[in-house]
Amino acid sequence: MTTIYYTASSLDGFIADPENSLSWLLSRDIADDGPMSYASFRPRIGAAALGATTYQWILDNDPGGWDFTMPAWVFTHRDFAPQDGITVTTDDVREVHAAMTEAAGGKDLWLMGGGDLVGQFADAGLLDEVWVQYAPVTLGGGAPLLPRRLELRLEEQGQNREFLCARYAVSPAG
Ligand SMILES: NC(=O)c1ccc[n+]([C@@H]2O[C@H](COP(=O)([O-])OP(=O)(O)OC[C@H]3O[C@@H](n4cnc5c(N)ncnc54)[C@H](OP(=O)(O)O)[C@@H]3O)[C@@H](O)[C@H]2O)c1
Repeated sequence: MTTIYYTASSLDGFIADPENSLSWLLSRDIADDGPMSYASFRPRIGAAALGATTYQWILDNDPGGWDFTMPAWVFTHRDFAPQDGITVTTDDVREVHAAMTEAAGGKDLWLMGGGDLVGQFADAGLLDEVWVQYAPVTLGGGAPLLPRRLELRLEEQGQNREFLCARYAVSPAG
């Protein structure tokens, strides 16, 4: 079981622009059968975790609302409407990670973001891999990819149409 931060980023390390928009990302070309595509990643995943801003973005921007089928934990102090498959939590990441592991039944865990939440898992030694699709754009500001100092080891890289895709292992020493 691997705990993976799978996300897309600008070249200068932002996962959303200062207006919390993903327009710089969603307009771009990526192949389902190319390296590190979402289509190849998704079947590995048994449970997910995300922060409140990411969850709100999905509710506001995805026409189907929350339509992921895996169980997911949303870290927040806000009141969200009840949603099948969603557990709202303020628990410590260690407790949530244990619950995710149990729910995932041997499959991998997806940390969806944002960056600081993933950093909280990394602080607890619970982040194994970082997969990033780098879009060919700089944003100059926004939500940071992973605002921690971590040592990573490049394990795999490739081009998927417009994207530079990289898979990193978090170094045990990092
Ligand atoms: N490029 C991509 O592929 C990609 C992927 C994911 C996300 N995104 C975007 O990136 C942006 C990320 O936003 P963000 O950096 O603000 O991150 P976020 O993690 O989505 O949301 C941050 C919020 O999560 C809650 N939170 C975090 N840790 C918590 C904890 N330990 N306990 C309780 N609540 C906790 C807090 O909300 P409260 O206000 O409830 O306290 C905090 O303000 C969003 O716009 C999202 O749409 C992009």
